Amino acid sequence: MIQAARGTYDILPSDVGRWQFVERELRAVFERYAFSEIRTPAIEPTELFVRGVGAETDIVSKEMYTFVDRDGTTSLTLRPEGTAPVVRSYIQNRMSAESRMLKLYYIGPMFRRERPQKGRYRQFHQVGAEVLSSTDEPAIEAEVIEMLTLLFARLGVQGVTLEVNSVGCPACRGPFVERLREAIAARGSELCADCRRRGERNPMRVFDCKVAACQGTIAELPALHASLCDACAAHFGRFRGYLDDRRIRYTVEERMVRGLDYYMRTAFEMKSAALGAQDAVAAGGRYDWLAEALGGPPTKGFGFAMGLERLILSMPETESGHAATGPDYFLATIGDEPFRHAALLARRLREAGASVYLDFDRRSLKSQMRLADRLGARSVVMIGDDEVKSGKLTVRNMSTREQIEVTGDDLVETVRSHANS
Ligand code: HAM
Repeated sequence: MIQAARGTYDILPSDVGRWQFVERELRAVFERYAFSEIRTPAIEPTELFVRGVGAETDIVSKEMYTFVDRDGTTSLTLRPEGTAPVVRSYIQNRMSAESRMLKLYYIGPMFRRERPQKGRYRQFHQVGAEVLSSTDEPAIEAEVIEMLTLLFARLGVQGVTLEVNSVGCPACRGPFVERLREAIAARGSELCADCRRRGERNPMRVFDCKVAACQGTIAELPALHASLCDACAAHFGRFRGYLDDRRIRYTVEERMVRGLDYYMRTAFEMKSAALGAQDAVAAGGRYDWLAEALGGPPTKGFGFAMGLERLILSMPETESGHAATGPDYFLATIGDEPFRHAALLARRLREAGASVYLDFDRRSLKSQMRLADRLGARSVVMIGDDEVKSGKLTVRNMSTREQIEVTGDDLVETVRSHANS
């Protein structure tokens, strides 16, 4: 038997209602905040992520699904995240010409070759939002986080905590990174080979190390937070002020650096108590230099992405939005002529607006009735030779068990008038 690839899974019809419910809620909330949807390809040139996310990050150095296209000319990658693709599209499609704040959102699959466990998959789904504009005013950062809190409230997700930090800008990070590089070199013997390599090439990435033996030393390395320049400290102060205005609670995590290179200044993570080890449900931050790094015009950026699997795992069971989806009509037939009659009636009922289940397996009436019950059909229309001859169909209401006789035309008319009311 061929199984789904490791770290991937099917969303079965019995679960898809929950996904559709969440997606509907997400779109409704994004609309309220004036975000528009953008859909970018699932494959991108590898260079986009190398330059955008950073060659030394775990995502780019260890987790990407990368392949050379069949003509041997291009290296392509299944997108591991959505920010770099959105910024690529923004540049390519000259969206900056609109000279207004662009608020974009996306929902779709992402791919990372991580070790699968609960809440961590190799194909997973993110919903994300990116705000691109000419201003780095932190009010929009607080508004985006407020939008997330509204979304959690609508989905009944409780116990989400917010952690924030500032990861500085090139002005304050430059001198800090040199200090960090020296500190790492001085304690190199206590660190793993990955840490030592990163210490030379991209010292901030040392904070991503998950090797248990390194953690004690990493905790004693200097933290950027204490060396922020005045402009970054002021930005962070204003951001916190906007959160306070909204009564949004948070903690400052001075050592949070986030695992992608494009961040500067504000970074945040939201964690859900309902999840296990993989408890980050949403995360994001500011990336004011990314558009330029990808060859575009100077543009300020801020955004987040949320793992849909983790969001759904954090929702209470009752918040499934799983309304009964049984058909309006189950057409039960006995014999060939009634089946042909029913197939045409099914089409008219569907055109009029009803959902119709036609049994193609041609089982006995008794088992058709059982199936109709199991599917949650609201009514069963019984069609045999007599019904075809007389033109009168028997319609049974499955909840009251009442039966009435109507013509096909009347039934179609009833459906049409309901659909229009
Ligand atoms: P990220 O922190 O790499 O950020 O991912 C964001 C969220 O995606 C995580 O908090 C988690 O919920 C989910 N996620 C990540 N990897 C997996 C996985 N293997 N399985 C299941 N869920 C996962 C980004 O991707 C940035 N692009 C966020 C951003 C947008 N920053 C600015 N704009």
